[in-house]
Amino acid sequence: MSPQGDGPRNKPWAGRFQERTSPAVERFSASIHFDRALARYDIRLSMAHARMLRRTGLLSESQEQALLEGLDAVAAEIESGDFPFDPALEDIHMNVEARLLERIGPDAGRLHTGRSRNDQVATDLALYLLDASRAAERGILDLRQVLVERAREHVDTVLPGYTHLQRAQPVRLAHHWLAFVEMLGRDGARFRDLRGRLDRCPLGAGALAGSTLPLDPEQTARELGFAGPTRNSMDAVASRDGALEFLSAAAIGMVHLSRLAEELVLWSTSEFGFIELADAYATGSSLMPQKKNPDVPELVRGRAGRAIGNLVTLLTVMKGLPLTYNRDMQEDKEPVFDSATTLRDALEVTCGAVATLRVNAERMRQAAGDPLLLATDLAEALVREGVPFREAHEAVGRVVHHCLEKDLDLSTLSREDLGAFHPAFTAPACELTNLDQALERRGLPGGTARKAVAAALEVAERAITRERAQLEAEAGGA
Ligand code: ARG
Repeated sequence: MSPQGDGPRNKPWAGRFQERTSPAVERFSASIHFDRALARYDIRLSMAHARMLRRTGLLSESQEQALLEGLDAVAAEIESGDFPFDPALEDIHMNVEARLLERIGPDAGRLHTGRSRNDQVATDLALYLLDASRAAERGILDLRQVLVERAREHVDTVLPGYTHLQRAQPVRLAHHWLAFVEMLGRDGARFRDLRGRLDRCPLGAGALAGSTLPLDPEQTARELGFAGPTRNSMDAVASRDGALEFLSAAAIGMVHLSRLAEELVLWSTSEFGFIELADAYATGSSLMPQKKNPDVPELVRGRAGRAIGNLVTLLTVMKGLPLTYNRDMQEDKEPVFDSATTLRDALEVTCGAVATLRVNAERMRQAAGDPLLLATDLAEALVREGVPFREAHEAVGRVVHHCLEKDLDLSTLSREDLGAFHPAFTAPACELTNLDQALERRGLPGGTARKAVAAALEVAERAITRERAQLEAEAGGA
């Protein structure tokens, strides 16, 4: 059977073929149901390509005009949802080109001059990743801002800091949340760094070895907002490390969000009772009328699994692939799109949940009030008297054991009581285990003393303002 039977929407590569593609193969190889997300990048690319072809003399002005108008019309059809996507045409590139042929006739066939779907898809994906990275940076900035605002409200809210999920030492809630502001700051920086590495345009690399035609890849690269074309045509079509970096940055970001989410889950249990989620960010049980469930942070925690899976998927696809393009690489898109949406949505709901949650400051302070949390302070008091730390640690360990055994409150021990464990104690326990003083003693930069936290808040606020301005300025310039 002749492939010509397929009519005007025949496959652009049909010339060499005698038989029609098996319908199962068409279904198996089609990517149009997901890569339509690249449509606007693909059309932007095609317009830049058409202009370049005209300037280098490969197209006449009227041919260029026909292509640009046709592409505009196709873009409008896609925008309005009227575009007849056809799985038999595999992907977004061939769908656009076939539609162009229907609209403007044989001149459509000039658009693919000097390009291949291999450099085309690599360029589309780079453009997508640039936008998605910017969106991620914005979402991350929003969450950092919300965390800083909530931290400002809770400079004097004290809770236990944990290691091994055991109460360890008291900290300010502001200090705790500023830890996430730091992590998220690095997450944003990872996307920013990635954008710096996505500054080379693959278009012009052709299928893999460039073109015999007098193209001007400098021009298309600049028109599309890149610093210049890629330096090696084979690298241009073979590489997907930009996508891998994006997936990695998204996975790390989601892991950070999952840790914040886990604390929201934990802290809203009756056992902790540190916070209550707003009704708008919680759900009920269909059976138990009394329940208020933290489904939102639970789903954020769960979706980190997807983001990690997406990274592993593409790493596995790419591993061991020979140069240059291989069809396996079509598997790059769904993980990328999914991680972009997953991160965007998780950031949005986390922002809302954090902005609206109610803090039970008494409950936190009560939990932080256990004087045993200041056992380290007792040991450090001995160090200040010249006692070696290990010796001090051992002595205070015996004090703690004594208190637990006799069910005593550590802060009630007199100087003499303490003296029985080490002669260098110069004050009663109550003077060494005052919660507020203990916080204030931790005044090193990055510590939990009031002054250190206030300074950290200011640094964070300035960084957020600066980074936001930078991002908006770049977006305006792009
Ligand atoms: N849909 C393909 C992809 O996403 C486009 C490139 C196809 N190139 C090819 N020679 N089959 O990877």
